[in-house]
Amino acid sequence: MDNTQFTFGLWTVGWLGADPFGAPTRAPISLEETLANLKAVGAYGVTAHDDDLFPFESTDAQRRDVIDQLKAGLANTGLKMPMLTTNLFSHPVFKEGAFTANDREVRRFALRKALRNLDLAHEIGAETFVMWGGREGAEYDSAKNIVNAMERYREALNFMTEYVIEQGYNLKFALEPKPNEPRGDILLPTVGHALGFIATLDHPEMVGLNPEVGHEQMAGLNFTAGIAQALDAGKLFHIDLNGQKGIKFDQDLVFGHGDLANAFSLVHLLEFGKNGGSSYSGPRHFDYKPSRTEDWTGVWESARANIRMYNLLQERAEKFENDPEVKSLRQRAKVEELKKSTLNQGESASAFMNSSEFASFDPETYFNGKGAGMVQLNQLALEHLMGAR
Ligand code: GCO
Ligand code: MN
Ligand code: MN
Repeated sequence: MDNTQFTFGLWTVGWLGADPFGAPTRAPISLEETLANLKAVGAYGVTAHDDDLFPFESTDAQRRDVIDQLKAGLANTGLKMPMLTTNLFSHPVFKEGAFTANDREVRRFALRKALRNLDLAHEIGAETFVMWGGREGAEYDSAKNIVNAMERYREALNFMTEYVIEQGYNLKFALEPKPNEPRGDILLPTVGHALGFIATLDHPEMVGLNPEVGHEQMAGLNFTAGIAQALDAGKLFHIDLNGQKGIKFDQDLVFGHGDLANAFSLVHLLEFGKNGGSSYSGPRHFDYKPSRTEDWTGVWESARANIRMYNLLQERAEKFENDPEVKSLRQRAKVEELKKSTLNQGESASAFMNSSEFASFDPETYFNGKGAGMVQLNQLALEHLMGAR
């Protein structure tokens, strides 16, 4: 698994532990030290927001200075930066939204910040531009017209995709859904909502998704199932891995430290979900927060834990995939039969309606018989996950 591309956001290991109830529990370290440590834990690369690199409203000279430092740091460590994103949520100017703020001046300011960041993404060789719209939303139904907000969101995306085409940049966009937090309700709350929105854009082929484990699970949804639908739509452009325990605030735990069984099925899908082979070739990006209980030793341990969890789950998923008993249970549960198309090739509606098979098909045999054996199949999955097979 040496070629799996594990990446970390600079804001993840760089989180100093401040939350709405308490001050930071760790002192900051330099970019150089961060990159060296990420290299040491086995990362392939790092990702960042513009503001993780240089403070909001830095001068051009200050920006240049940090960009040069970053490039040197990447060259020294051999780390890559395959994804860049824009902070359109921290500064008070974005308190009521960015691309979808009611205030038009704010929208124009946000768009300008994003466009500058597209230039930076191109300069550092990033291929994916993630867009998490944390402040795009509302608390009060009476205070924002969501239909108009969607129009403005689309306008922003269309402008940015057009700009990338014009400049000839090799960049694609990945929208990151989240149901709430920090806004009471965020626009594009789930994978499904975002897929629907992408289809309305001028350049839908340039826009996909960056789904995050915890975000779907905050909405009570099955992350693996959402990822499968994103794959089916050809829209899994990037992925944020972390852990979440049910419907509550965004926990950003280490990958697998939340719903472990769902993490297992996710890794199985990513690594073996396409006819037994990998279904996704992009970076495995960890978007977690080292708990505020930790000092810097604990931060790097938790970074390693993400990679270790992924690798262990991949190992277990491979054993599960190749277990002959699992294969026969899959036959019993007709898992493979779902690959077969429902209609015969070229079958017309009248041929279908008059098919002789219906004379002998007896739906009553499904009562008190023809069990699918799916519980036993799940039992074996969990036994593999637990290392019991
Ligand atoms: C969150 C989000 C962010 C985004 C990041 C990159 O819940 O805070 O997951 O961490 O992933 O802003 O766009
Ligand atoms: Mn998150
Ligand atoms: Mn995220």
